[in-house]
Amino acid sequence: MKILAIETSCDETAIAIAEFKGTKQNPTISVLSHIVSSQVEIHKKFGGVVPNLARREHEKNLVPILLEALKQYKKTRSVSHALGKKIERILAREPELLRHFKKYILPLAPPDIDAIALTYGPGLAPALWVGVNFAKALCALWGKPLIPINHMAGHFYSATLQNEKSGYKVENIQFPALGLLVSGGHTELIYTKGHGKWTIVGETRDDAAGEAFDKVARILGLPYPGGPQISKLAEKRGKTLSISLPRPMIGSDDYDFSFSGLKTAVLYLVRDLKKKISVRAMRPSVAREFQNAVIDVLVSKTIRAAREKKVKTILLGGGVAANSLLRERLRAKIKKEMPRVKYTEPLPWMTGDNALMIALAAHFVGKKKAWNRVHADANVRLG
Ligand code: KG4
Ligand code: ZN
Repeated sequence: MKILAIETSCDETAIAIAEFKGTKQNPTISVLSHIVSSQVEIHKKFGGVVPNLARREHEKNLVPILLEALKQYKKTRSVSHALGKKIERILAREPELLRHFKKYILPLAPPDIDAIALTYGPGLAPALWVGVNFAKALCALWGKPLIPINHMAGHFYSATLQNEKSGYKVENIQFPALGLLVSGGHTELIYTKGHGKWTIVGETRDDAAGEAFDKVARILGLPYPGGPQISKLAEKRGKTLSISLPRPMIGSDDYDFSFSGLKTAVLYLVRDLKKKISVRAMRPSVAREFQNAVIDVLVSKTIRAAREKKVKTILLGGGVAANSLLRERLRAKIKKEMPRVKYTEPLPWMTGDNALMIALAAHFVGKKKAWNRVHADANVRLG
């Protein structure tokens, strides 16, 4: 099964093509294309992602990225008037994309793929819709089925892709499994007894972990996205101020999180420290303590959920999974306290949003649908 996957839920335009062989449970993978075009530089000026700007960028990027992903294609055909009209209707709200589509995609012979997988939610509605309509137009043109995929399922499966001497392999998940998914929009503990049998056992009640990193970075006068900035600062050596921040909900007897109060605590801390020292001077200490507070809570709740649910595998996923201290601490804790549990973390370049993780999720849990029955759903949840 050869899958072309599309991801446009936030500020990355991504397309991947992957071929899966072998069994459903234990596939081999060939990564034929994997392209991610980040809009981070565009949104930086605004201190966060601007949905309509993201949508415009996706509109501009999708066709060139698809042509790059296809690598080889033949220009052979002319399409019927009726099919041309159908494409015009599907892309009526994306005039720039439609223009590119007519010029570059309509004349292509259908590529050698079996299905198109697509992120239909959760995410930013205007950004999701561009991807959905683009995927629908491709399915209508090429007569391929569409596989709608939940973005969080993508992050869940991202850790299954691992390096191998001659390319990549897909890790076999032993069930029951627990996923700690930490991104800019979500912080969730997902329990599953088998592929696609999701239960959200814990989640944030307010800000997501990545969102907290981004907000604290802003308090410290650092640019968006804040996660990488904070983790870099936290690694800086030098004098450490003795400060302590709360570990919200670390002792609560559920698996939920809350990071909004932690952000407010940082705001007050910085305000008080400013009376004595410059923001620049306090940054490494505040970054370190804040990062430790977030990681303490994430690791502690994950371990407790894994123990109580008796899981055999723990997977890490999402943009915050790029944080090397989080990876080290979670890895070490699992090794020490539950050595029989298998732990997998994504390759560093698989942590942020990408389409390869959508192709992986499509392999494991995808259900083909007629393209005209697929819609974007900005708030869809797993399970
Ligand atoms: O999964 P992702 O790329 O997009 C969403 O689906 O939200 O996650 C982006 C988030 C941002 O909030 C960013 O600050 C955070 O991941 N992030 C990090 C690190 N790298 C990215 N957070 C902490 N440490 C990092 N090294
Ligand atoms: Zn994401």
